Amino acid sequence: MTLLKIARMGHPVLRRPAPAVADPRDPDVARLVADMVETMADADGIGLAAPQVHVGRRVIVFRVPAERAEADEPEPPAGLTALVNPEIEPLDDEIALGLEGCLSIPGLRGIVPRHARIRYRGTTPEGAAVEREAEGLHARVVQHEIDHLDGILFLDRMPDLTTLVFESEVHHLLDEMEDEDEAGDGAEDGEGGRR
Ligand code: NI
Repeated sequence: MTLLKIARMGHPVLRRPAPAVADPRDPDVARLVADMVETMADADGIGLAAPQVHVGRRVIVFRVPAERAEADEPEPPAGLTALVNPEIEPLDDEIALGLEGCLSIPGLRGIVPRHARIRYRGTTPEGAAVEREAEGLHARVVQHEIDHLDGILFLDRMPDLTTLVFESEVHHLLDEMEDEDEAGDGAEDGEGGRR
């Protein structure tokens, strides 16, 4: 396995919509997923999308830490999920605000509105179909990663840029928002994730 270089905001690969993968069981996909998992772990992230490692393909990986889910949420799936050609649909109209970060936008966090409850589908690199419902942090991570496949960064979703802050200043925001969820592909450092 190989640690991959993570593209940072400004690199055009992050802004290009990624084409679908023709064959999810292609060994190249399995290799990419293994490298993405290693790269995400090395960067203390909870999610990573292929364009973030300079690969324009519809592939995401994520691992939602159970201890970060809200008490009233269903448990997120245990362990790691890798999805090829993932798709998403909101389950209702509810929008939740939560803190996000991104491995491609190091050091910054912001409050982003996301669908509170979603259904998502995709194929594993082994060729198995996955269909799940998600809410809370789990739903937020999936939406953030799929956005990367469409060239969208969390900043694009922020209605209020006064909530864009450095990680070291996040506690000022948290004092104000208390019970909102935190997420992103980022660090599992208790300050919200980076994806
Ligand atoms: Ni991200």
